[in-house]
Amino acid sequence: MDRLKTSQRQPAADLVKLVKLHQEVPWQKPLSAHSTEAFEALRPRVEAHSGPLIIDSCCGTGDSTRNLAGRFPEALVVGVDKSAHRLARHQLGDRKNYALVRADVNDFWRLAKEARWRPTQHYLLYPNPYPKAAQLRKRWHGAPVFPDLVGLGGLLTVRTNWSVYVQEFALALHSMGYSVRQNQLNIEEPISAFEQKYHARGHALYELICDLDQS
Ligand SMILES: C[S@@+](CC[C@H](N)C(=O)[O-])C[C@H]1O[C@@H](n2cnc3c(N)ncnc32)[C@H](O)[C@@H]1O
Repeated sequence: MDRLKTSQRQPAADLVKLVKLHQEVPWQKPLSAHSTEAFEALRPRVEAHSGPLIIDSCCGTGDSTRNLAGRFPEALVVGVDKSAHRLARHQLGDRKNYALVRADVNDFWRLAKEARWRPTQHYLLYPNPYPKAAQLRKRWHGAPVFPDLVGLGGLLTVRTNWSVYVQEFALALHSMGYSVRQNQLNIEEPISAFEQKYHARGHALYELICDLDQS
């Protein structure tokens, strides 16, 4: 059962219409200078890497970025978060195959897509749920950048403690022609700081997996 306080118990009725609108009308918001600089600083390393690229979007303190780097030693794992405060709390590990970047993913996803980066995997772990009904456009599947996130490709993993969030995310992807898998998680070793916190508090945790390269 969800432990989150919200009056929204079902996927938003106007979600699919919103996703279609965002597909039809390309998003024009100018890219911010700080994200562009951070992207360009990282770019040579990513483009020189011959192995798989994994993106860990909204990585917070970057625990998941470090853990993924350990799990996938041949990959370069890029953790992106807009919060300098969260990134500053990162605890370095022994692994060298990861990088943390301070950037807004609204910019970073568009820049990565434009640069034709093709991540093999993309993690979006415990994004802010924005659980009020009026906040649909703040959730990633209701945001104008959603087509860019999808267009980046890769095996996408989304985790959340709000069942409606994954249901909506799945509906948005279905409406774009993708099939998805949804599971309730049985956590043994938490991968991120929020996963650790929710697991310790006994929250039900949900996962959505979608191959964005499926034809
Ligand atoms: C609930 S925390 C989850 C952090 C981490 N994934 C975890 O599982 O511990 C959500 C994170 O999303 C980041 N975030 C929210 N909007 C963002 C954006 N537009 N660009 C980059 N990061 C963002 C926040 O700074 C925050 O660290």
